[in-house]
Amino acid sequence: MSEQVINPRFRGFIGLTTHPEGCAQSVRQQLKVVQAGCPGSGLGTMLVIGNSTGYGLGSFLTGVFGYGAKALGVCFERPPQNNKTGSPGWYNLCEAQAQARAAGKQVETIVGDAFSDEIKAQVVAALKERFGPVDCIVYSLAAPKRLDPRDGVLYASTLKPVGKTYTGKSIDLRDNSIGEVTIEPASDDDIQGTIKVMGGEDWQRWIELLDEAGLLAKGCRTVAYSYIGPQVTYPIYRSGTIGKAKEHLEATAKTLDQLLQQRCQGHAWVSVNKALVTQASAAIPVVPLYISLLFKVMKAKGSHEGTIEQTVRLFNDHLAPGKEPQLDSEGRIRLDDLEMDANVQADVDHLWQQVNSENFLELADFEGYQRDFHALFGFGLDGIDYSQATEVDRSL
Ligand SMILES: NC(=O)c1ccc[n+]([C@@H]2O[C@H](COP(=O)([O-])OP(=O)(O)OC[C@H]3O[C@@H](n4cnc5c(N)ncnc54)[C@H](O)[C@@H]3O)[C@@H](O)[C@H]2O)c1
Repeated sequence: MSEQVINPRFRGFIGLTTHPEGCAQSVRQQLKVVQAGCPGSGLGTMLVIGNSTGYGLGSFLTGVFGYGAKALGVCFERPPQNNKTGSPGWYNLCEAQAQARAAGKQVETIVGDAFSDEIKAQVVAALKERFGPVDCIVYSLAAPKRLDPRDGVLYASTLKPVGKTYTGKSIDLRDNSIGEVTIEPASDDDIQGTIKVMGGEDWQRWIELLDEAGLLAKGCRTVAYSYIGPQVTYPIYRSGTIGKAKEHLEATAKTLDQLLQQRCQGHAWVSVNKALVTQASAAIPVVPLYISLLFKVMKAKGSHEGTIEQTVRLFNDHLAPGKEPQLDSEGRIRLDDLEMDANVQADVDHLWQQVNSENFLELADFEGYQRDFHALFGFGLDGIDYSQATEVDRSL
């Protein structure tokens, strides 16, 4: 037992402390959205790769609590140690799994490197011993690096433009001012490294491994997450190194779709999701400014959603058994439809042209951005008395 009063400490887009009870409260809030918006049953066994934060956590909660799935997750999180708080994803899962077990649901998470053969083997063993073949596989990793066990090389993902230097507006999260960032173009190694980490190769390995192990249930559906976004973020996102990786991921979906159709009458899709505040997106230059302006516009229009609303909509409209997903001309699910609405984008673009350090707080919903960002680490949540000590030692 180790109870402590925990104060927020941030450096740029990195949280240095985590509030365990705040993370638990965030999960409880997300569960309310799931329970109000989903049928409660319908899914058999689910595997979520990257289930501790962001879109993966939303998928895990939606599958388990919204569709009654028994679920196995994989993530890379830090447990509390020597009175130091664990990482946010650790505490998110402590609460999610405690709530699931209290409701009689079978859930489990394997903590370790999802890219490694060792963790893949542990997942296969757990499925064989305790879960059985999988009906739904969500691939939601966002990682800075990947050690490929086949060649032993440690690949790094970068966020750089391709072809030419990019200069554009961005929030400096150290002092919350608007300035210009200049980012030099990627090298070929940067591009290849980013594709290795964030492209579809590892997703394909997971699916092939589960197929070889006889663990794909009839009709198994798998989804991985992508992003496109507007022209203003193209140089750094869609036409940048990360965009090349997303193109690879989307091409992999087509390969896996054919494989799954043949092997188990299943399907693979990419879902293009909305830009939201997660640990992964906070690290991308330009994107936090775009998100702050987007939130201002979408909240005013009443079309704003968070990760949990997005994953509930994904399952309800597209992914749940028996649903026929609505696909775009490239075969992708588009959960970014409300973000990319022409009126929303015209308003965001208008604000983008005007925004500067002086008018930023007025034009953008930076308060909302920061609230969401702090909430990732368990801070600023309603219903939590932050002056009280909270238990840091929590187990999954
Ligand atoms: N956040 C957005 O705005 C946004 C929008 C559209 C699509 N996406 C995509 O959604 C996916 C998930 O991103 P997110 O924003 O939810 O990120 P996130 O940082 O919140 O979550 C990443 C997850 O990956 C896990 N992880 C990272 N490295 C791992 C490793 N080596 N082994 C095991 N687990 C590991 C983490 O533990 C966590 O569960 C990504 O593909 C991202 O590109 C994000």
